[in-house]
Amino acid sequence: MGERPDVKVAVLISGRGSNLQALLDACAKPEFPAEIVCVISNIADAYGLERARRAGVATQVIDHKAFPTREAFDAALDTAIRAAGAELVCLAGFMRLLTPGFTKAWHGRVINIHPALLPSFKGLHTHRRALEAGVKLHGCSVHFVTADLDDGPLIVQAAVPVLDGDDEDSLAQRVLTAEHRIYPLAVKLIGEGRVHLDGRVVRVDGAADAGATLVNPIA
Ligand code: GRF
Repeated sequence: MGERPDVKVAVLISGRGSNLQALLDACAKPEFPAEIVCVISNIADAYGLERARRAGVATQVIDHKAFPTREAFDAALDTAIRAAGAELVCLAGFMRLLTPGFTKAWHGRVINIHPALLPSFKGLHTHRRALEAGVKLHGCSVHFVTADLDDGPLIVQAAVPVLDGDDEDSLAQRVLTAEHRIYPLAVKLIGEGRVHLDGRVVRVDGAADAGATLVNPIA
């Protein structure tokens, strides 16, 4: 519809692929400015591969264990992503660290979703650590990927309350619902050409004021 062609996306997964599903569902809408051209998993039986097949998207398994070094694995990823014609790489529960060579070559073209309000709770077990820290607000972040883990420029974040009686599962589920909202949103903004990387900071053209303050708890 628009003058700009859809951005071609490769999605990298290692597991169940619920964020991949959110992206597949978004891309299925004709007006959505992105197209998933391949789904790559480092795990052969990742359920996300089944989701991709069901959506008619090409899949590939690249098993990291088949490569002698991380550099060799990343070179295989690079080749597959380029062969598919992808311009943007979305990490969606992809449990491998990318090498500096890869992140440099793809600077500004790899994004990740992380289940915490970065820069808090980088790394694993974010929900458990948020509960232990007693934070009242938690959430998720979509960010550009750099060589440093969970450290790249932030594109979109969503906050959710941490409620009395939450356990890791209930909190994870609340965050996941927000993830499924903001990952497609970030891809949409990129597809529309509205996301600009300016050093550490991302500017989004035409971003509306979210308009609400989330306070937790309220009495
Ligand atoms: C999500 O919580 C995501 O934020 C994190 O890994 C999890 C992947 O879940 N990076 P899924 O495979 O998308 O369901």
